[in-house]
Amino acid sequence: MSKVTVVGAGNVGATCANVLAFNEVADEVIMLDVKEGVSEGKAMDMMQTAQLLGFDTTLIGCTNDYAQTADSDVIVITSGIPRKPGMTREELIGVNAGIVKTVAENALKFSPNAIIVVISNPMDTMTYLALKSLGLPKNRIIGMGGALDSSRFKYFLSQALKCNANEVEGMVIGGHGDTTMIPLTRLATYKGIPVSSILSEEELEKVAADTMVGGATLTKFLGTSAWYAPGAAGALVVESILHNQMKMIPCSVCLEGEYGESDICIGVPVILGKNGIEKIVELDLNADEKAKFTASAVAVRATNAALKEVGAL
Ligand code: 2OP
Repeated sequence: MSKVTVVGAGNVGATCANVLAFNEVADEVIMLDVKEGVSEGKAMDMMQTAQLLGFDTTLIGCTNDYAQTADSDVIVITSGIPRKPGMTREELIGVNAGIVKTVAENALKFSPNAIIVVISNPMDTMTYLALKSLGLPKNRIIGMGGALDSSRFKYFLSQALKCNANEVEGMVIGGHGDTTMIPLTRLATYKGIPVSSILSEEELEKVAADTMVGGATLTKFLGTSAWYAPGAAGALVVESILHNQMKMIPCSVCLEGEYGESDICIGVPVILGKNGIEKIVELDLNADEKAKFTASAVAVRATNAALKEVGAL
């Protein structure tokens, strides 16, 4: 039996659980939240769609009862506060670091073999915190940011190309921040055709810029951060792990010399399978992309340094 726990039943956590259930990614999905009744209510509501939508996954909600999460294969951490309009993801660190650390430690006690997928923001730093505080091998700690940013990139590319987003390939690497992410326009393709041969330099620059502030744009619209794509991106990562799909998905992972970086979790393409990170894929970046990646790592490291200031590490 496959089991996934989603910690945090807010918008992102509930959407992730919903997608996991609807796509029958796991046999059982447990939602856990600190707010009394929220997970139970959302799980019951979703279970009442099982007959309408035709899925067989069982959803269970619980209030802070980690025993119910026991023996999960994957634990998805979405806990923490979302950003408000005008806020950066990095500003959430003071509140979210303590929450993410506690949640991850509690969940791991009951599922010592689980793979951890981090969604909480600032995502690269929360992934690094999980890596440092849990003492797990690095293949079992994965931040999902690049999966989300890449899907936004493909959306904006499809808008510019006026084509089906499923026919576009593209990846975003670097940090999951408005100024740190790096949409790889040079490597993006439409049906195998480089998009750089179809779109102008200005059009590509606009796609990259829109992608980078993709989350902030939605936060402005919604008054809080987005949830449909973040939740679905989390589910995509879980599915590749649980079903050993070996998909290449950009995720925030611990680097040990790859891309010239060490002691950092940052977005790079990885192969995701039953062991979590099966392989880190090293792209042949050009000088401009390399410089952007180095700058992105500097910014992510600066946010990581705040973990010590808030006493989380
Ligand atoms: C976003 O980019 C929530 O960080 C997430 O929408």
